[in-house]
Amino acid sequence: GTAEIGVTGLAVMGRNLARNFARNGFTVAIHNRSFAKTQSLLDDHGDEGTFVASESVEDFVASLARPRKVVVMVKAGAATDAVIDELVPLLDEGDIVVDAGNAHFPDTVRREAALRAKGLHFVGTGVSGGEEGALLGPSIMPGGTAESYEWLGPILEKISAKVDGVPCCTYVGPGGAGHFVKMVHNGIEYADMQLIAEAYDLLKQGLGASAAEIGQIFAEWNTGDLESFLIEITADVLQHVDAATGAAFVDVVLDQAEQKGTGRWTVQNALDLGVPITGIAEATFARALSGSVPQRTAALGTLPAHTTPWAVEDRDAFVEDVRLALYASKVVAYSQGFDQIAAASEQFGWDIDRGAMARIWRGGCIIRARFLNRITEAYERNADLPLLLADEYFTGAVGNGVQAWRRVVSGAALHGVPTPAFASSLAYYDGVRAERLPAALIQAQRDFFGAHTYRRTDREGTFHTTWSTDRTEQDA
Ligand code: 6PG
Repeated sequence: GTAEIGVTGLAVMGRNLARNFARNGFTVAIHNRSFAKTQSLLDDHGDEGTFVASESVEDFVASLARPRKVVVMVKAGAATDAVIDELVPLLDEGDIVVDAGNAHFPDTVRREAALRAKGLHFVGTGVSGGEEGALLGPSIMPGGTAESYEWLGPILEKISAKVDGVPCCTYVGPGGAGHFVKMVHNGIEYADMQLIAEAYDLLKQGLGASAAEIGQIFAEWNTGDLESFLIEITADVLQHVDAATGAAFVDVVLDQAEQKGTGRWTVQNALDLGVPITGIAEATFARALSGSVPQRTAALGTLPAHTTPWAVEDRDAFVEDVRLALYASKVVAYSQGFDQIAAASEQFGWDIDRGAMARIWRGGCIIRARFLNRITEAYERNADLPLLLADEYFTGAVGNGVQAWRRVVSGAALHGVPTPAFASSLAYYDGVRAERLPAALIQAQRDFFGAHTYRRTDREGTFHTTWSTDRTEQDA
């Protein structure tokens, strides 16, 4: 065969990835379970480049040049396993299977090991940027063997987004590293979206502003430090008017947020690793709360608020406070997400370069933002930085906004406006910087009721106090 790359699974993401390869000059083998989708890709876009279409998996595999590079773009889970099982017997040693779907990283670890045992490469790859990104240049996060990247890297980098001429694609690490990083990307996406939603709510409640007015504030914010894809689309969405009712579009959308699972996976994994990703967790739970219909119905009009209406006097000062609080909370969410990447990298031996991850998230993906440059710079200053917040740039940037952050969170609490992500991010900030935490009391309690032992501030060792008898301290 002659095709330089193949794509199987031609739903919207696969179709757009295939077109992206073709538009970049690669000969692309295409295949789909039902040929109708393959045919429609040829009919609609066949002139965009060189496609080699096959009806059968056998012909598809045969149309590829060796080592074969097959991108699988089907639903995560059983569908992915089914396609892999079909492909594997047809492949030869050294061939490369790329799973570009949103797979759960433990599945990727399992599949990578299984294919490696057969002499094949399995590359679990995060792809972010939605439909448009897939077509015009996504952010790409490939894992697997370093050897596979020698073959794949040039192709994937070519079709990826570019920022200042630098591709938003790099080798992430072995095994499940690529899908792991994509998972954390999505967790951060949840936190970013929740923080933006809280900022919108604060402006709505504090100023009594309309959606369109708030949209203009977001548009203004998008010209500064907060400049990002999500802020930009928020400005757009808030100014959109519903055709049917003439009302602001956001005001006619049901307020129950859904999710496909990547945020939940991120939180589950953080619990396993013991990494406090409170921003992402609150964002995930806020979606869950919004969808808790029986609870919300039971509470509505029942639970007293005991608040007074929020009438902000200095409008401009309040808008600036919310902006600073949003930026600070956002930095916390990213700092926590990068901690999670570091912890997993350590646990699984992936050796992930966090600065490089920030670099490939600058363009193409959903969380693309100006401030990711600052994160890359921070890890360039210190690759082993234990806390992103402690980098000199972020210490200054967040430090500037701390008083504003406190005014916003306390004002929200006083006036009954829920800001779980803003408030928990501030609590994290105060917790992580505290000289002394009440965790000492927790240790004492644990020792009291379960002889779980404690350590002391003044000397080495592990101790237990005989609480129920004479309360002497023993070496444990
Ligand atoms: C991306 C997105 C994408 C994800 C959506 C929806 O990086 O392009 O993260 O992969 O499917 O954001 O996610 P939820 O349905 O969980 O909100």
